[in-house]
Amino acid sequence: MAGFSPEWLALREPADHAARNPQVLGAVGAHFAGRNSMSVVDLGCGAGSNLRGTYAALPLHQHWTLVDLDERLLAATRQTLTGWADEAREQGEELVLTKGDHLITVDTRQADLNKDLEWVLGWQPDLVTAAALFDLTSKRWLERFVAALTGQRLPLYTVLTYDGREVWQPPHAADARVLAAFKHHQHGDKGFGPAAGPEATDVMAEAFRKSGFAVSIGDSAWRIDERRGELARMLATGIADAVLETGQVDAATIADWLATKSHAASALVGHHDLWARPV
Ligand SMILES: C[S@@+](CC[C@H](N)C(=O)[O-])C[C@H]1O[C@@H](n2cnc3c(N)ncnc32)[C@H](O)[C@@H]1O
Repeated sequence: MAGFSPEWLALREPADHAARNPQVLGAVGAHFAGRNSMSVVDLGCGAGSNLRGTYAALPLHQHWTLVDLDERLLAATRQTLTGWADEAREQGEELVLTKGDHLITVDTRQADLNKDLEWVLGWQPDLVTAAALFDLTSKRWLERFVAALTGQRLPLYTVLTYDGREVWQPPHAADARVLAAFKHHQHGDKGFGPAAGPEATDVMAEAFRKSGFAVSIGDSAWRIDERRGELARMLATGIADAVLETGQVDAATIADWLATKSHAASALVGHHDLWARPV
C-alpha cells in the first residue's frame, strides 16, 4: 500500500468537503432522519475527514468506528478530531466529542480491509461509509465487499471515488498521454489486487443493483482554482511521479508538463459519490 501523508489529507479535506454531492448526502440524511442515534463504520478513515464531512447530516447521537491500516493516521485522526470538536475527552479507549448539537463517540481500529473485511463488517453498524478509498481496491475485492454488505443488508455511503476525468487549464500537448499513463498506474496493485481505479463506482453500482439494492450516484468533482494552488501543485506532482513510474512518458516531457500544471489556472478532477441501500 502506498502511504498517505497527514499533510496531503489535510490539504485535500476542504476541496473534498466542497466537492461532495449534496443530493447524495441529502438522501443519506433522509434515510436516517427521525432516529436519535446511529452507528457508523468508516473504512480507510485517514485522518477523519469523512466524519467531519458527514456528521451534520446524521442523527444527534452517533458512534463512529474509524478503521485504517495505517496506525500513524489513526493517531492523527484522534488529534484532528480533538482539535475540531467543541469539546473532546477520552473515556477508556473512546473519544467523546461534542460538535454543535451533536454528541459523537469515536473508536479507532487498525485493520487491513483486504484481510479483515469480514471481521470489520461483522460489527454490523447502521451505516458503512468511506471516502476516497474504493479506486484503490480491486474489482474482485469490491464484489466480495458488496456481497458481504448485501448479505447483511448494510447500506453504504461513499464519496470521492476517482472517475478518471481530468481537465487542466492551461492545456499541455502531453495531457492525453499523461492521463493515459496515470490511469494505467491507477490500475496497479494497492494492496487489494489490480486496482479498479476509475471503474470502481461502476463495479459497485452494478453489483449492488444485481442484489436488489437501490443505488444513487452523484458527481463530486474537484473544481480547483488559484485559491487552491497548493492542492493543484501537490496533485500535479503526484500525477507526474506516478506517470514516471510507468515509463510510458519520457522524463523531459513530464517535467515540462509538471512546470505548466504547477501554475495551473484551474483543474477539474472527476469523482463520484454513491449511496446504496436495501429496499
Ligand atoms: C486516499 S486516503 C483517504 C483517507 C480518508 N478517507 C480521507 O478521505 O481523507 C485512503 C486511505 O485508505 C487507507 N487504506 C489503504 N489501504 C488500506 C487497507 N488495506 N486497509 C485499511 N485501510 C487502508 C489508507 O491508509 C488511507 O488512509
